[in-house]
Amino acid sequence: MPQGHHLHLDVPETALPVFETALSQLGGGYVTGGTDADGNVPVDVYLAEKPDRGKLNALIATAAAAAGVAEPAVQSQPLPDVDWLQQSYESIPPIRAGRFYVYGRHHAARDRPSGAIAFRIEAAQAFGTGHHESTQGCLLALDDLAKRGIRVRRGLDVGAGTGVLAFAMVRLWRCSAVAADNDPIAVRVCRQNARENGVADRVTSVVSEGYAHRRVRAGAPYDLVTANILAEPLIAMAGRLDAHLAPGGYAVLAGLLTRQARRVFRRHRAQGLVLDRRIELGDWTTLILRKPKHQARRHG
Ligand SMILES: C[S@@+](CC[C@H](N)C(=O)[O-])C[C@H]1O[C@@H](n2cnc3c(N)ncnc32)[C@H](O)[C@@H]1O
Repeated sequence: MPQGHHLHLDVPETALPVFETALSQLGGGYVTGGTDADGNVPVDVYLAEKPDRGKLNALIATAAAAAGVAEPAVQSQPLPDVDWLQQSYESIPPIRAGRFYVYGRHHAARDRPSGAIAFRIEAAQAFGTGHHESTQGCLLALDDLAKRGIRVRRGLDVGAGTGVLAFAMVRLWRCSAVAADNDPIAVRVCRQNARENGVADRVTSVVSEGYAHRRVRAGAPYDLVTANILAEPLIAMAGRLDAHLAPGGYAVLAGLLTRQARRVFRRHRAQGLVLDRRIELGDWTTLILRKPKHQARRHG
């Protein structure tokens, strides 16, 4: 792989648009700074490889002439030989949510806070590294339910992505969990993650549109269902959620913006579920709903 290259020059602020147009012919990325006391702007150009010196000199000369300024000096040097992919993985920080600690391969397990439940999950082809507020809201909700002593023998995660919520369930309650996703790639990633995190014997991962797969149906009734999808599919699936939830069971719903939470709740309330708690993180809301042990006959 060619080594990256860095150019630095200071150009008069008035000439900046002309130089930017000229330098854009080299490709690469640009960073410009603030104007200094002499009215010059620092320009850094990052290129995939060293530019042809003759072409570079011609571009600079043409731009300077067009802008009516003196030719600026250009510093040109190779970029340090860094593994950018490795560095970008390392720049994704581990996440803490309640008792959970979610980290990537490039962070050492030794950094895990003592007592944390840790999962190693890569930022790969499935959603659910814990970086999104909706996932964090669900993890906090699960932690909260466990602290309150609710019992879970069977859990279901609809829209499992990486599987992080299903893994959290089986680690908190030592239960079994079905992890369902309608994306076959996510299911493959989830299975791999389950193996890597030592929970493959308790997590069954299936390709399922909502609750459609027979393994999903066969596992019902569930004591706990998590679904971090989006408001509309959650609304559409409210009846099936209720049908798969045991009396006294809990549902953790996420993927909804706070302004959508009331509508999502209303649809589930019509199904007979009651609001237990809600968690707001940024623009996102997580709902914890409970199915009463004895449901009143409902309308709507
Ligand atoms: C926002 S991600 C959540 C991933 C993970 N559970 C988390 O909390 O981070 C939503 C996942 O739901 C899946 N999904 C979306 N609609 C679905 C549906 N109707 N049935 C099953 N899975 C669905 C997507 O493929 C995606 O992996």
